[in-house]
Amino acid sequence: MATQGQQSGQKVETREKRDIGAVRVGVMLALFLVSFQSMAQPRKVLFDTDSAFFLDDGAALVMLLHRPDLVELVGVTVVSGNLWARQGAEHMLNLLELTGNEEIPLHIGAQRPLANTPERAKVQRELLGGLTYLGAFSEPEPSSDADLEPPAGGSFATLRPRSQDAVSFIIETLDRYPNEVTILALGPMTNVSMALNLRPDLAGKIESLVFMGGALRVPGNTSPYAEFNFWFDPEAAQHVLRSAIPEKVMFGLDITNRAPFTKPQFDAIVAAETPIAEILLEDDRRTDWGFSANPEISTYIWDCLAAGFLLDPEFVTREETVRVDVDTTFGPSYGATYEPAGESHSDILPTRVTLDLDYERFMSLYSDLLMRPVGGAQ
Ligand code: RIB
Ligand code: CA
Repeated sequence: MATQGQQSGQKVETREKRDIGAVRVGVMLALFLVSFQSMAQPRKVLFDTDSAFFLDDGAALVMLLHRPDLVELVGVTVVSGNLWARQGAEHMLNLLELTGNEEIPLHIGAQRPLANTPERAKVQRELLGGLTYLGAFSEPEPSSDADLEPPAGGSFATLRPRSQDAVSFIIETLDRYPNEVTILALGPMTNVSMALNLRPDLAGKIESLVFMGGALRVPGNTSPYAEFNFWFDPEAAQHVLRSAIPEKVMFGLDITNRAPFTKPQFDAIVAAETPIAEILLEDDRRTDWGFSANPEISTYIWDCLAAGFLLDPEFVTREETVRVDVDTTFGPSYGATYEPAGESHSDILPTRVTLDLDYERFMSLYSDLLMRPVGGAQ
């Protein structure tokens, strides 16, 4: 029979066990809540774009705007590429306003690439041939607002660009959120390169750079060797790929060529009759290379793969991590991407090069998001 002392000792032990148990449960609950909260935090994304095509840069913006649970757009920065930056900004402002996202700041960045010029492009085209697309270089550079064309819909958005230039906005954002910001670069890398040129220390504080650009093991789409974004500003692309950014994820033509987009897919989006669908249709009708003029063609939606990766990275089925560099020698291979051989440039940090995808999975992500009513998150 237990003595009174033994009984009270057992009670103390039982109470202690209960207390320890309660502390454990409390700690586990706290850990769960902390990890749940951090899981639930949307990823901060800075959206750097050369605007223009709404199936591409514009659709990429709309995709992300529809998932504020996954992505917090800290700002849109515009660079010259498809269009001159000031003109491109008008299209992006229109999309931000139309979708009720006026609070997302838009900043205009580099008007010109670091070294490439319309004159260089002319020399390249005349001497070397094979340039299929010149983007902004085929239009006169706007010298004032009077030179700007209204976006699809016919009238300028009320929303205006912020007065701060994109390069200083990128620097300020990376300083404000060190190691938290993903840069989604969907045009030439001029803005990013200029920011890192002023503040090289910030490269290590970029959480990730996810970009559309380059063509590692497939031919180019602008010259026989170069993809457009890298061809437009090869020096910027080289600078950024050689920088100390810890993670770089490349969506080059190697993967985007594997995601053709056809008129039936386009028609399904247009049939949703949302304001976004109307813009897509009007944009398509404006060009002479769209589905309205050429129903049999298939096109590509390059930037949307890079944007989609921020929402569902699992659609990528094959990737390799290799060193990637950019040829800046002015000649036939200006802007081409390549893997440096042997010991050359062994200091370049590797890039995750995406190579293949689950096409159906990606396409349903893209179409579902573009068919959603404006303002309909999730
Ligand atoms: O080569 C395709 C890329 O060039 C896309 O980003 C497109 O928008 C243009 O910028
Ligand atoms: Ca683009």
